[in-house]
Amino acid sequence: MSGRVDGKVAFITGAARGQGRSHAVRLAQEGADIIAVDVCKPVSGTDLIPASTPDDLAETADLVKGLGRRIVTAEVDVRDYDALKAVVDSGVEELGRLDVVVANAGIGNGGATLDQTSEQDWQTMIDINLGGVWKAAKAGVPHLISNGGGSIILTSSVGGLKAYPNTGHYVAAKHGVVGLMRAFAVELGQHSIRVNSVHPTNVDTPMFMNEGTMKLFRPDLENPTKEDFAPVAQFMHVLPIGWVEPVDISNAVLFLASDESRYVTGVTLPVDGGSLLK
Ligand SMILES: NC(=O)c1ccc[n+]([C@@H]2O[C@H](COP(=O)([O-])OP(=O)(O)OC[C@H]3O[C@@H](n4cnc5c(N)ncnc54)[C@H](O)[C@@H]3O)[C@@H](O)[C@H]2O)c1
Repeated sequence: MSGRVDGKVAFITGAARGQGRSHAVRLAQEGADIIAVDVCKPVSGTDLIPASTPDDLAETADLVKGLGRRIVTAEVDVRDYDALKAVVDSGVEELGRLDVVVANAGIGNGGATLDQTSEQDWQTMIDINLGGVWKAAKAGVPHLISNGGGSIILTSSVGGLKAYPNTGHYVAAKHGVVGLMRAFAVELGQHSIRVNSVHPTNVDTPMFMNEGTMKLFRPDLENPTKEDFAPVAQFMHVLPIGWVEPVDISNAVLFLASDESRYVTGVTLPVDGGSLLK
């Protein structure tokens, strides 16, 4: 049986865990080979959650190989354009082509007010969550052009379409991703390259499901659990959920990566349980 992205090759950033890993697995289930990169270490001195590791990226590779697909992995920081380009170039050499770019790597916001946000925090956020997206696209686009077309999917957030307090640098970066998406869509359409962004609400990954986030939602409790914070997180949504699973975002990515969306470009696609309606 043929898959929905059979024979395509997808380049995915932030693929060691969370949504990036899920995208790699979901696309591989539908017939794609994968070029997967992740920094696999802490990216700033103020990280609130444990960093991903080389073992995490190796696990992503095992999962993809277990599905009978090929995968090229590398430990690369999306802030390093030369390194990204080298990996994509050699990945394309090995796997033969490039059809899809998923610029997913990102860091969380930590819920800091403006006065608590240092210039360094601001710069790191913009460099990774906006600059890293630009660099991933830049590394992939020449290959998509020589391929005769392709699909670029940029991971934004509901915070890329609406404001939240205590997240100025994150919200600014994620709104910036929408600007990049629209600019790339009009620039690259002539090459049959489609560009869209996905906008997840809370996703059950380490970025969201951690002690700091739980305390943000339940400041009244000393040690809130998942169960304590589920009803509060549910207030954000129209549907009766507090968060979605990584595969829910991967299914949107799969649609945008596949030819099923062949005339869809310039779209901001929320996967948000209706949170943008509130
Ligand atoms: N989890 C959520 O609730 C949520 C909601 C909306 C949007 N998002 C966005 O989804 C994307 C994926 O996040 P996730 O939920 O899977 O979180 P995650 O923390 O589980 O995974 C993010 C991955 O990106 C990698 N990464 C971070 N900085 C990097 C860098 N400089 N270079 C290369 N890799 C880097 C990390 O090592 C990690 O493996 C992010 O862009 C995030 O902002 C997440």
